[in-house]
Amino acid sequence: MKQLFVLATALLLAVSCSQNKAPKTLVLYYSQTNTTKAVAEEIANALGADLEAILPVVPYDGDMGATAARCAKDAAEGKLPELKPFTVDVAAYDVIFLGYPIWMGTYAPPVAAALEAVNLDGKKVVPFCTFGSGGLDTSVKDLQAKLPNTEILPGYGVRTARIDAAKAEVDYFLKSNGFLAGEVTPLPDFSEVRPATEADAAIFDAAVGTYPMIHAAATEVASRAVPGGIEYLFTAKDLPRDPAVEIPDHFIKVYVLAEDGKEPVFTQVLR
Ligand SMILES: Cc1cc2nc3c(=O)[nH]c(=O)nc-3n(C[C@H](O)[C@H](O)[C@H](O)COP(=O)(O)O)c2cc1C
Repeated sequence: MKQLFVLATALLLAVSCSQNKAPKTLVLYYSQTNTTKAVAEEIANALGADLEAILPVVPYDGDMGATAARCAKDAAEGKLPELKPFTVDVAAYDVIFLGYPIWMGTYAPPVAAALEAVNLDGKKVVPFCTFGSGGLDTSVKDLQAKLPNTEILPGYGVRTARIDAAKAEVDYFLKSNGFLAGEVTPLPDFSEVRPATEADAAIFDAAVGTYPMIHAAATEVASRAVPGGIEYLFTAKDLPRDPAVEIPDHFIKVYVLAEDGKEPVFTQVLR
């Protein structure tokens, strides 16, 4: 009887220990110009997680053109950048927040190189990225294709121009996805999609402004109330740069935030 009791207690202890074991979390990121680094530090601080930078042996320290040229040359030669060894054992972590700048529509090559260097099978990966206009959606699709045995959880992305908003958004993201304790008010669903009116188009045009990579006209829109303003999800049709040239129909989706008393800004483009 006593033996049975000891066994039952040991079993109970084992079960409760395994349930209480907090997942080990690593924030692993690459950043060329420190924007992604700022988000990585925010996440690591909030979670008390370990932080590890992906460091190419030869840093990308050129301007955008030089970096793009180096990427194009490497891609043509089927090469990825050589990385410095990690200072942590990535295999020892259960959850990896993987951060990167978007380069040419997806995660930057140093992150592609890191994915060759570590085995993330069976782990949970939370992508986060920074970008000029967008690329969270496309990079997540690429991660899913690259890592079929890894659970890719919903990610977070922010424009370089909106990096000041990242602190509050990261806090909301971590809480609403259950990584951090705390109450958050869920956002309402977007309204039904409606044809964009002239007033909607004016908001779209103001938000996109002179951003060089977007040349499009709003066609449809949905909206919802968010704390302090309205968020819009526009569908917009690409316009030819030269009005004399016909281009095939192509539509983009653009999230726009219109905060009370402020100019509307776009927060993310889905291509
Ligand atoms: C070579 C290169 C390619 C880029 N390609 C894109 C792109 O396709 N889409 C985009 O929205 N931003 C693009 N960007 C902008 C970066 O994603 C953005 O500046 C990012 O915040 C930089 O992060 P970092 O400071 O952590 O390096 C590119 C930047 C570089 C240097």
